[in-house]
Amino acid sequence: MSEHSVSLRSMALEVDIDNAQFSLRLLDQTLLPTQELWIQVDTNEQMIEAIKSLRVRGAPLIGVAAALMVAKLAVQGEGAEQLLVSAKKLYEARPTAVNLMICIDRMTKLIRESFSVDQVTSLALQIFREDVDLCDQIALNGASLIEDGDQILTHCNTGGLATAGVGTALGVIRKAHEQGKKIHVYIDETRPLLQGGRLTAWELKKLNIPCTLITDNMAAHLMSLKKITKAIVGSDRIAINGDFANKIGTYSVAVNCFYHQIPFIVAAPYTTVDVQCQSGLEIPIEQRPAKEVTGVSGSFGDVTWAPSGVTVYNPAFDVTPAKLVSYWVLDKAVFSKEKIDAGILKK
Ligand code: MRU
Repeated sequence: MSEHSVSLRSMALEVDIDNAQFSLRLLDQTLLPTQELWIQVDTNEQMIEAIKSLRVRGAPLIGVAAALMVAKLAVQGEGAEQLLVSAKKLYEARPTAVNLMICIDRMTKLIRESFSVDQVTSLALQIFREDVDLCDQIALNGASLIEDGDQILTHCNTGGLATAGVGTALGVIRKAHEQGKKIHVYIDETRPLLQGGRLTAWELKKLNIPCTLITDNMAAHLMSLKKITKAIVGSDRIAINGDFANKIGTYSVAVNCFYHQIPFIVAAPYTTVDVQCQSGLEIPIEQRPAKEVTGVSGSFGDVTWAPSGVTVYNPAFDVTPAKLVSYWVLDKAVFSKEKIDAGILKK
């Protein structure tokens, strides 16, 4: 099928194809919430920089953006051999979110088997549309776990900014709100890059969903006061035993929920499940620059508080063991521990 005139829009990604013109635009997430600046991405180097610097971020969205970049390069005249080189560079832009690898693998398989610009473009658009549908399914499945009166803790940003659709964990929250359930969301600020304080707070305010922003180290205190009834997060990679990687700090949320006997839920599409990965021990964890921890920088300015030259450890993700998880909300269904132990994720 050829698609010569198509426009697809999400909260943070826009693609317009008009014959040989292929325009790809990203909402620069490093500037949110103070500036809403859309940037045009023309080269592979620009896309790789955007992924590494988190101008575009969130496991599903970096997969979709990278697939579209491959299609754009094909439209711009790259042949199969050159496209495979470009795709490999995109694949290596960030190591933890398996969605990036799964989307690029789909693109390269097609390029190797039967390369045509039309087919490559169609597949990238299909990956975008599929992510929208996967989010809708996750939202519907997950909302069945949310009850009237729930006070829900979430970590990082898992909404429209992190996917092509309504999001994963945040999509569940949004759906429950749309269903008329009275819920309140506690947003972990999510140090060091503040995806909660900057991005989730921005999304929830736009959606008029009641919410309160907290710093990450306040969550356990709120749990002890019985102010949190559920926690829901997204994921960057789920191993087949149910262990999963997500934004650094997620593991602490899970441990705190376990201690306080609060249901802890992870929501993700099948494109986040790594069937090659037996357990969380095999998930590669991205290490990021020290300056993200020694201070903050963004559209609000640059501040450094740590002494110059201090040694810093800055893993972008941590792994939560399956035994701390109450439910895995996938696009297919909601799975309990029994189903995960029975090997449902292998299929
Ligand atoms: O480093 P980021 O901002 O890309 O990390 C994002 C997360 O950890 C999200 O929780 C995860 O990708 C799921 S998004 C639907």
